[in-house]
Amino acid sequence: MSARTVLVCGGAGYIGSHMCKRLAREGMLPVTFDNLSSGHRWAVRWGPLVVGDLLDASALARVLSEYRFAAVLHFAARIEVSESMREPLRYHRNNVLGTLNLLEAMRAAEVERLVFSSTAAVYGTPEYSPMDERHPTRPINPYGRSKRLAEQMIEDACAQPGLRAVALRYFNACGADADGELGEAHDPETHLIPNVIRAALDPAGASVKIFGDDYPTPDGTCVRDYTHVEDLVSAHLAALRVLDAGPAFRAFNLGTGTGSSVAEVIEVCRRELGGRPAAEVVPRRQGDAPELVASSALASRELGWRPERTLTDCVRSAVAWHRKQLSGIGSTSPRD
Ligand code: UFG
Repeated sequence: MSARTVLVCGGAGYIGSHMCKRLAREGMLPVTFDNLSSGHRWAVRWGPLVVGDLLDASALARVLSEYRFAAVLHFAARIEVSESMREPLRYHRNNVLGTLNLLEAMRAAEVERLVFSSTAAVYGTPEYSPMDERHPTRPINPYGRSKRLAEQMIEDACAQPGLRAVALRYFNACGADADGELGEAHDPETHLIPNVIRAALDPAGASVKIFGDDYPTPDGTCVRDYTHVEDLVSAHLAALRVLDAGPAFRAFNLGTGTGSSVAEVIEVCRRELGGRPAAEVVPRRQGDAPELVASSALASRELGWRPERTLTDCVRSAVAWHRKQLSGIGSTSPRD
């Protein structure tokens, strides 16, 4: 059993909880380590929950001594671009210092395999698109910088014997679990697709805000590469399988290669939501890149990974999740 026990930092969060469900389905035991600052107790259903903070070195040492972990999956982070513009040091403390603590604790406990959640935000404004991993990394917000710094620390640690790691640079994660057990439940919610769905399902007929329509993109709204959370989870399983071979540190982009503008996403949502919601254009949100679209050719070649779900699949599964929460028929409660 021990060879199949995995530590999931941030396992109570959106992507982490979907990961735990898949790990359990694959016969592994996911042990969640999460401070529950943005994750949810109800989302931890496929293995034990250890409530703890990456900034607490003794709590980390305890959980790493309690089990014999085959690997660590590190999802725990602050993830909002606009919040990072307002609170940059919070991002560096959580995302950089938290990762440093984890690396030191893993070294002390002789746990040698790590899959790290990174982001498209490490690249900054695209010099070409779609972006591959050779694209310069010049992040334009503290969130992207904190993730890039964490990647660099991991790469440095991998130069010494005893650590092998893969960084997965997600583009825009979205969608929900096919069984309707898990979904995106941030509070406050800042992401586009859940915000559009919430506005559409609002009995008072709320509208969704479009943050800027004066970007250098075909319709003036920002372009992103929306990738289903279940496809992202599959890439982690592939990363776990390749960790023992090849270079000690590797980074892969995870996206579909298709860019969709904010206006296009709202249109896809309206098709699923009976024409709602209305949209209003407001000024740009600070720190947003005009376009982030992935070339995932490297992940396809080296991980054998190909995303299987479309933007419509993302929206449809997210709509089903939100409707279920509203009708109160979910077996889970996103209110803790
Ligand atoms: N947007 C709106 N209205 C909203 C919410 C978002 O117009 O109510 C716009 C944003 O300005 C942006 C796009 O929709 O242009 C996508 O915004 P999200 O907040 O959904 O996602 P981000 O691209 O800002 O960030 C997400 C994750 C990051 C990750 C990034 C990588 O939160 O962790 O994707 O692309 F780094």
